[in-house]
Amino acid sequence: MSSPLTIALPKGRLYDRVQKHFETKGIFFEFEKRKLVAYDREENLKIYLVKNSDLPTYVAHGIAGMGICGEDVILESGHHFHKLLPFSFGGTSLSLAGLKDFSMEDRGGPLTIATSYTEMTRRYFHDQGIPVKIIKLNGSVELAPVLGLAPCIVDLVETGSTLKANNLEVFQKLHDIKVHLIANPAYYKIHYKAINKFIGQIRED
Ligand code: PRP
Repeated sequence: MSSPLTIALPKGRLYDRVQKHFETKGIFFEFEKRKLVAYDREENLKIYLVKNSDLPTYVAHGIAGMGICGEDVILESGHHFHKLLPFSFGGTSLSLAGLKDFSMEDRGGPLTIATSYTEMTRRYFHDQGIPVKIIKLNGSVELAPVLGLAPCIVDLVETGSTLKANNLEVFQKLHDIKVHLIANPAYYKIHYKAINKFIGQIRED
């Protein structure tokens, strides 16, 4: 029997969607309490459960040959991966948002933005020729305008309910974000037959 393909999956809401999708394709797995490594029932896959923003690190180092994550995570990491398969679930957008009464025009000086996505934010506003001051946060970014840390945020928006609950609104969309199966290029070269078979199995109808 050949050794299992290795794949990293992100903790959080995307994990549940991936697990459900895999089940519809006959791939079953679950993580025992607090465990971070699991195999699917057939032992064709060795699965690592990692923090979303760490996923590219594991795939770039070849620890996990493949991963499933949003383009936000891929672009922010700066690593190069093969994007093997897009998924229809988990789509979001990276957007600039802030308090409803904030006016971009009246700001006077650089636009202060709190975000976890410092690289994508820097690149986007640099390309637009808009000077920005970026404050890095790791989560609950919507608090920043509410508490006065920064008038604006750049964050993922899916349903919009987190913004709404904090009296914030979208000013501008920066990127549409899709979820992809990615692979380490060297790993793909070695395991392309098994990976292509796996892609055939998990492809959406
Ligand atoms: C993400 C994102 C927003 C929220 C958007 O956060 O950072 O806060 O989801 O989703 P919505 O538009 O459906 O409300 P997540 O829940 O992953 O946690 P985080 O704040 O720790 O990033």
